[in-house]
Formats: sequence, C-alpha cells, structure tokens
Amino acid sequence: MNAPIEFHDRMLSLGLARVSEAAALAAARFVGRGDEKAADQAAVDAMRTQLDMLDINGVVVIGEGERDEAPMLYIGEEVGTGNGPAVDIALDPLEGTTLTAKDMPNALTVIAMGPRGSMLHAPDVYMEKLAVGPGYRPDVVSLDMSPAERVHALSRAKSCNPSDITVCVLERPRHEDLIAELRSTGAAIRLISDGDVAGVIHCAEAEITGIDMYMGSGGAPEGVLAAAALKCMGGQIWGRLLFRNDDERARAARAGITDLNRVYTRDDMVRQDVIFAATGVTDGSILSGIRREVGWFTTETVLMRSKTGSVRRMTYRTPAK
Ligand code: FBP
Repeated sequence: MNAPIEFHDRMLSLGLARVSEAAALAAARFVGRGDEKAADQAAVDAMRTQLDMLDINGVVVIGEGERDEAPMLYIGEEVGTGNGPAVDIALDPLEGTTLTAKDMPNALTVIAMGPRGSMLHAPDVYMEKLAVGPGYRPDVVSLDMSPAERVHALSRAKSCNPSDITVCVLERPRHEDLIAELRSTGAAIRLISDGDVAGVIHCAEAEITGIDMYMGSGGAPEGVLAAAALKCMGGQIWGRLLFRNDDERARAARAGITDLNRVYTRDDMVRQDVIFAATGVTDGSILSGIRREVGWFTTETVLMRSKTGSVRRMTYRTPAK
C-alpha cells in the first residue's frame, strides 16, 4: 500500500465547513417551495463558488453526474485555486432534494475531501448497502447474509433480542421483500422517504438516533459519502454495485471498475484519511436545519476528521441577504 499523502486536513477543514454552509444557506430559500430543481441548482452554484476559494488542486470524483449531464460539479471537474494539495472531492450539494422541496426532515448538504486517489470513483448506479455503527467485529454482518440473518447476528452481538434492533430502510417498492423479511424477525424498521447518507450516519450514533443498522439499495455515490462519514465517526458499511443495463455497466467501465460483483468495505470506498462536512437544510435527528429569524440565518454543521476521529458541531449565524 502507498504511504498516506499529507493534505493539510486540519487547515482545510474549516474551509470545507464553509463550503457546506454556503450550499445549505442557498438551498434554504427553497425549503418547502415545491421546486426540487431550483433548490438543487442554488446549492450547486453556492458550493462551486466556495470551492473555488479554497487553496486546493481539487478534482470532483463524486459529483452531480458525468460531464454531459451536469453543467457544474461534474465528475472530473477541477475545483479550487490550483495552489495547494492535490485532493479528491466527493459531494452532494443537496442530499434530499425532495425532502427540501417538501420541507421534510434530514435534508443535508454533504462534502468530503481526501488526498488524490483516496476515494472510490463510484459510477452513478445503485448500490446495495449495509451499515452498522462502531464497536462491532468486522464480520458481525455481511451482504452475503439474508436480511433476517443480519438481524439475528446483530442482536447476538448486542446481547439483545431481534425485537430490540431497529433497521433503517428507504421506503421503495423495490424494498417490499426486504421489509417483509425484516418484519418477520420482530425487528423495528425506520422507513425514510429519501436521504440514505443520513440514514447510514444514524447508525454511528445509535444511542441518539435509535437506529442500529442500515439496509437496502440507493445511489452508489451516496454510498461513498456515507463511507467517508463512517470513517470519521466509526462504524462499518459494505456496498455492492447493482447494474440494471449495459449503459450502467459502461459507466462502471468508464470509472475503471472491472469486478462488477465486488463487495466494497468502508475502507475500500475511502482508502485514506478524509475530512467530511454536512450542514442541515431541514431539521433532522443528526443536524438542525437552517433557522430563520428576522434578519438572520443560523446553520448547524458537523465537521469531522478521520485521522483524529474528531467530530465538531458548529453553528454559524449570518445576516440574511
Ligand atoms: P437526491 O437528493 O439526489 O434526490 O437523492 C436522494 C436519495 O434518496 C438518496 O439519498 C438515495 O441514495 C437515492 O435518492 C435513492 O434513489 P431512488 O430515489 O431512485 O430510490
């Protein structure tokens, strides 16, 4: 394995928080306005502007899509002043566009940064995901187990009953069988309508959120972002890419992926130390959303470094413009 590359993570972390805050502030104007596209565009524009102020030689590896689909923050786009360390950026300027448009909980802005080559270039396809919080053996559960086996294995590891386990799942028709099998074990299910980065992060703070395990398929880019968060907070995630057609397999080939059935661990998705920032757009169990008072906006951001395991929560108040 190559020696880890230094990328001034301590110095850059506050800059990363500013990027995340700016995107959330921009999206805040669209909370509850029923316009997902406008909310997303505002977050993208603000994130792009702030990223270009950072002294980094950055490349977007997880972004808004491939170059022909995304005018900004597309995969491969160079960001930053160019004067600074070579870094990879994974971002989702608005994770939960529908949540924002409908003013539902847990919409976030999310960004992670690591040395060049540190993060998996996940194509924009689905990924089967499984995650648990910190403190468990690396083989406590696996993607090869059935959903029921995972509940039983985790309850044994936690010395509790299956009915004491809560699993978070995206509510989708494709998850009907998964949900039925989980229910047959007696486990509780927290269904979310969107936002599986937040869904996975919930596992890292099980004592606060009440969620022990995350399961189901969602975006592969979101899987890498969630892996970056768990690398900082502790916890494990496993992911397997899912392909529905040849176009999706071609996306994987363009991203340099040859083994289409590979199971990626957290450290396969995020291979070196990273920094991670997320800002709440709407209220959620991890972060408060943007507060609006007459003349002011207040944000809450979580800023984390995997090298130290530090998790910093910051509020920022700024005049409303
Ligand atoms: P957007 O905010 O980009 O719309 O993504 C929301 C999200 O719920 C992700 O968190 C999740 O990974 C993905 O969409 C699930 O995809 P789908 O809606 O197709 O099931």
